[in-house]
Amino acid sequence: MSPEIVQSLYKAIFERKSIRRYSDRPVSDQMMQDICDFTNSTALRLFPQIAFSIEVVSPSEVGKLGVPKAPHFLLFYTKAGDDGNQHLLNAGFVLQQVDLYLHTLGLGRCWLGLARPKQREKDGLAHCITLAFGYPDEDLVRISNDFKRKPLDQISTGDDPRLEAARLAPSAVNSQNWFFDASDQSINVYMGNTGAIKKKLYGAMNVIDVGIALAHLQIASMHYQISFDCQILPQGSVPNKDNFTYMVTV
Ligand SMILES: Cc1cc2nc3c(=O)[nH]c(=O)nc-3n(C[C@H](O)[C@H](O)[C@H](O)COP(=O)(O)O)c2cc1C
Repeated sequence: MSPEIVQSLYKAIFERKSIRRYSDRPVSDQMMQDICDFTNSTALRLFPQIAFSIEVVSPSEVGKLGVPKAPHFLLFYTKAGDDGNQHLLNAGFVLQQVDLYLHTLGLGRCWLGLARPKQREKDGLAHCITLAFGYPDEDLVRISNDFKRKPLDQISTGDDPRLEAARLAPSAVNSQNWFFDASDQSINVYMGNTGAIKKKLYGAMNVIDVGIALAHLQIASMHYQISFDCQILPQGSVPNKDNFTYMVTV
């Protein structure tokens, strides 16, 4: 990823917002190609061994329930295997870079956890999550005071300049169900435990959310020129945290 792209994605973290009102104007073929190239070749992977594939479709290919009227929908397909949650972390990680990239192109986007595409499988991979996008019919940019987010001291400990980028990450129903322990040089990332009903409804999305926050940490790391190495450390080597599940260390 070039330094120019890193800086434009980093800036996008501090001004992006979900867009739910779109103009009908379609995105050009050239821009569509750039978006596919960015997703397939430029966006970094959290777990490079996990296969994924994307498809951009029109509204007629996606169920209407709870879905904004956008001209384009990016469908993300990936492998649900014996990797635990890694394919979901990777989905959030890759697609959040695409979210930020679309913002830098002047396009609005909205993550859609509930959208149901007609095509549920592609290349042997299962549909996982959707991003609506198109030219916005509302302000694209938000000033930082308008972010509705928990304060840093509720979601983190320690002092690391990258935490603010993680704090601003979007999450399903804005749950921000995460914790970042930066008290010992690296950052241990945790996901909040939820009751059985919430887990059934949002369990997969909460893991995708953590992947999204990790994408912000990755871009902030490149901005601050701090190395970013994502590891899952063995049980016992990371402090337990009540009501949270350890996910990864970066
Ligand atoms: C995994 C995921 C799923 C989401 N699903 C939906 C959805 O189905 N419908 C919707 O309107 N917004 C959805 N959102 C958008 C969130 O509500 C939004 O990101 C959050 O409220 C924070 O607002 P912001 O994106 O404007 O910062 C989703 C976000 C994420 C990360």
